[in-house]
Amino acid sequence: MDPEPRIVDTLARPLGDLRISVMDRCNFRCPYCMPSERYPEGYQFLSRREQLTFDEIERIARLLVSRGVRKLRLTGGEPLLRPGLADLVRRLRAIDGVEDLAMTTNGMLLDRHAQALREAGLDRVTVSVDSFDAETFALMSGGRGSLATVLANIQLAREAGFEPIKVNTVLQRGLNDDGALDILEHFRGTGVIVRFIEYMDVGSINDWRREQVVTSAELIKRIEQRWPLRPLSPNYHGEVANRYAYADGQGEVGFVSSVSQPFCRACNRARLSSDGCLYTCLFATRGTDLKGPLRAGRSDAELAALIDSVWRRRADRYSELRGQARPEKRKIEMYYIGG
Ligand code: GTP
Ligand code: 5AD
Ligand code: SF4
Ligand code: SF4
Repeated sequence: MDPEPRIVDTLARPLGDLRISVMDRCNFRCPYCMPSERYPEGYQFLSRREQLTFDEIERIARLLVSRGVRKLRLTGGEPLLRPGLADLVRRLRAIDGVEDLAMTTNGMLLDRHAQALREAGLDRVTVSVDSFDAETFALMSGGRGSLATVLANIQLAREAGFEPIKVNTVLQRGLNDDGALDILEHFRGTGVIVRFIEYMDVGSINDWRREQVVTSAELIKRIEQRWPLRPLSPNYHGEVANRYAYADGQGEVGFVSSVSQPFCRACNRARLSSDGCLYTCLFATRGTDLKGPLRAGRSDAELAALIDSVWRRRADRYSELRGQARPEKRKIEMYYIGG
């Protein structure tokens, strides 16, 4: 498959995964990501003209696949707010070399889109569910989300044929961590894989404090008091979640321990913002503009050379260095770059 040797960064990490943010807007206002006081009605998000078109996204994705990317994930903000998303899915699915095409969504709009996305060739969806208490859920979505709707939509997505469906849960101590087992109880035995993500200091607005983080080790202990677990080996090199199976055969649970056990060493992820900047870390303070050169008529060879030079220079390992050096500049925000 590989026509040329894979490019690697300064830590010998190849490029393998591209996360494409297709929309900086979101229909939720999760306080840890887009607090409503900072993102009120009328906030100036990216204009249509600033956003990459589907032609441009497809071209950049093709280029990155030619540099080693095999997994694509659509993110936002909320990707389902991007009109015509199934058309983009169809185009990305047709790229030779793409082994996996997934999407991360808050699930509120899935009922309208699940079937069309599946038919267009989307392989998997991951839905964020932070609480199983309807009130806490509403609070954690900034008053915009409905737990009942999201759960019904997960069921619709299963019926549409997405396999497996994953649920991402971010716990914050004192806010929703007491409900972790309720989420597991609901999805145990259904084939839906729940993954707990340690709350991270993404961006510069969420006022993150380490005391709010519930570590995976602590959580595993809590879960095991009710349901014994047994570790599973990773599905692929560099998988961010550590996988565990319920000892009683009722499925698996994942833990993304980005704070307590950083996984930068195997990080092969690049991120593309909806306005066409390429980022090499979730905690980056700056990206490389690809839209400008693309709109200025640069050739594929020129753009590929630019991508190669960015990746070869890459030295990011923010999570491993967390706390040692504070970035001087503002980090990019989660809604702008996706998870
Ligand atoms: P699979 O392809 O299903 O294994 O999914 P994934 O784990 O690649 O993607 P997903 O977006 O579901 O990852 C779960 C969460 O882990 C994200 O929403 C982020 O919060 C976090 N995460 C993913 N990639 C990174 C990363 O490169 N660095 C850090 N620090 N966190 C990440
Ligand atoms: N830490 C961990 N996960 C986060 N997400 C958003 N902000 C953070 C954060 N600070 C998660 C969302 C969603 C995914 C895209 O990223 O809950 O599941
Ligand atoms: Fe919440 Fe995700 Fe929207 Fe951010 S992008 S506000 S985490 S649903
Ligand atoms: Fe990759 Fe940056 Fe996350 Fe480390 S902190 S795993 S380098 S995205």
